[in-house]
Amino acid sequence: MTESLTLDTAPHKLAEQRCSDAMRLGKDTVDLRRVKCDPNYWYPVAWSHELKKGKTIATRFAGQPIALVRPQEGSVFALEDRCAHRQVPLSKGRVEGEAVQCCYHGWAYGRSGRCIDVPYLGKGKLPNGVRTYPCREVEGLIFVFPGDAEKAETTPFPKLGSVADPAYKTRRFGEKVKCHYSFMHENLMDMNHQFMHSKQMGKMKPRYLGGENEPRMVEARYSFARVGGKQPWGEALIFGERRDASAKFAHRDVMTIRTVYPYQTLHIRTEDEPPVMDLWIVYVPQDEDHLTCRVFGLLSIRRPKLKGALELAWPLLVGFTNRIFAEDREIVELEQNAWRELGGDRNQEVFPVINALRDLLRRAGIQPDSAAAE
Ligand code: FES
Ligand SMILES: [Fe+2]
Repeated sequence: MTESLTLDTAPHKLAEQRCSDAMRLGKDTVDLRRVKCDPNYWYPVAWSHELKKGKTIATRFAGQPIALVRPQEGSVFALEDRCAHRQVPLSKGRVEGEAVQCCYHGWAYGRSGRCIDVPYLGKGKLPNGVRTYPCREVEGLIFVFPGDAEKAETTPFPKLGSVADPAYKTRRFGEKVKCHYSFMHENLMDMNHQFMHSKQMGKMKPRYLGGENEPRMVEARYSFARVGGKQPWGEALIFGERRDASAKFAHRDVMTIRTVYPYQTLHIRTEDEPPVMDLWIVYVPQDEDHLTCRVFGLLSIRRPKLKGALELAWPLLVGFTNRIFAEDREIVELEQNAWRELGGDRNQEVFPVINALRDLLRRAGIQPDSAAAE
């Protein structure tokens, strides 16, 4: 069922909102920053280019160490990154044919995780192996299914924006950010924070057009008007030049942001045309407490009619998006620091979309058990 999300700014409505926030901060409400990601989804854990043929690398999902192995022949596979013998990382080992051999005493494991050789024991009495993770490599990303492996086949694989469409050029980006993934979802969905980016973007006034709220999805739509400052290069490239957009909302470009658990998307389109920009992004928890995440983003820009123009302007676009992302990263890490110092979430949220998003992330995630929540 879809519920529409509207923004009523009448004073009594805002007072009600504040009241409901006070209730949200009550004892019965689970602190969102203690909610963990549901592992029963496909999550990227590395970029394809990080893993060369015949090599293995270490990666992680929410404190679980994972070794990715790319044999000389055949597809990538993923094993628990602990040798069954003495628990040292298998990612320190070497790839031999279709197996990885531990660096310490040479136990070897195949793609099923079974131990297939102990050099000093013979093949008759092989010990147990290690856990294996369902693994897929798609569009330059290596995904694993860290939850119940039996659910992997029936869990829909995410649609990765416009990355496979040759009409688009895609920037693959991401780095580690020291915050709970929920801060990242909130940051992208709440476009009122354009205020912070005014140095990069000029003064932009976002206008909230409406949104949707479904059991697994929250959507927000915005349009923007420039109310001061020059249009930056990077933005002109994405949106096109806007000599006329000085004061009034043009309503031409609509930005739609969705959290479709656990992923997030953002696209910008003008009326019925295909999106000029299409972003797919996910924030993968690194440590068991979920206080650091690794971002995997696919930012696809539609190629303009003028051939080669996008390639030429690409370094500018990369610089522009890096500067925006650096500002976002700094602010979400500061939010996380405040949470740490205050011992919990004191946020007073007034925007219905963000409250709907927080409810979704709470519902869909793994809540702490009551003893741990105290
Ligand atoms: S620790 Fe891996 S073979 Fe001994
Ligand atoms: Fe931002």
